[in-house]
Amino acid sequence: MRFKNKITLITGAASGIGRSAALAFAKEGAIIVASDRNDQGGKETVEQIVSKKGQATFIKTDVSKYEEVKKLMQQIHEEFGRLDIAINNAGINGVIARTKDYPEDDWDKVMSINASSVFYGMKAQIPMMLEQGGGVIVNTASIAGLKGLPNSIAYTASKHAVIGATRTAAMEYGRNNIRINAICPVFTVSPMFDPDALDKMAQGIPDKLKANVPMKRFAKVEEQVGAMMWLCSDQASFVTGLALPVDGGLTA
Ligand SMILES: NC(=O)c1ccc[n+]([C@@H]2O[C@H](COP(=O)([O-])OP(=O)(O)OC[C@H]3O[C@@H](n4cnc5c(N)ncnc54)[C@H](O)[C@@H]3O)[C@@H](O)[C@H]2O)c1
Repeated sequence: MRFKNKITLITGAASGIGRSAALAFAKEGAIIVASDRNDQGGKETVEQIVSKKGQATFIKTDVSKYEEVKKLMQQIHEEFGRLDIAINNAGINGVIARTKDYPEDDWDKVMSINASSVFYGMKAQIPMMLEQGGGVIVNTASIAGLKGLPNSIAYTASKHAVIGATRTAAMEYGRNNIRINAICPVFTVSPMFDPDALDKMAQGIPDKLKANVPMKRFAKVEEQVGAMMWLCSDQASFVTGLALPVDGGLTA
């Protein structure tokens, strides 16, 4: 029960890593605000938590729109009066193309959903955390925030931006008892990264990707969530500004 009664916002909570985080934090006592643009998936996450006697509510938000993010924080303020933990996790892959062929519209979309969303989230979350005297934020970056990833220029740039924003905000608000970190997942089996579907599209690619990972397998969503939970817990009370690879050794 590391997070008993902690008001915990998770974006991208309708699916994959975000849903798994919502379930795991709820199991350890957190009161979950699950947010996503997909209301059906978000409500299913809440139903799963409530069916296990946890506490959760769903608020639909498009995190790429600052007005919606601000409204989300206002609703949390009105309903709970505080925000202990924020996990800015929503994201998309974007198209796969070489830089010279990468469509500008897709660049804008990926940058706004993956990178601007994290800035908007922190900009709206930090005032509440300052008011209450502290808090913890975890942003979901990627190993593509630590190294290049050919054919994914927008995704790579957006995740580098997430890490830069995380480090900067961590330095600004350390003195205010707000810890801000990022996790950097490697290929993690989820609706975003489905090795079987990928193999059907491009046979043999999943095996090649796996071969590059020193631990010779893909990550499970629970393994990303384990790192998030540690960063949010008191065990990490002096850890801030960290971009933590959860990557089976890929970036080693
Ligand atoms: N799965 C991987 O291999 C992997 C690797 C590295 C990083 N990540 C990152 O982890 C995070 C979660 O990914 P996942 O694997 O769980 O994928 P996922 O597709 O299962 O979940 C992403 C969620 O984000 C939501 N979302 C997308 N755009 C949104 C928007 N504008 N507003 C609100 N919600 C929005 C989706 O509806 C979805 O529920 C992402 O930031 C992703 O970039 C994933």
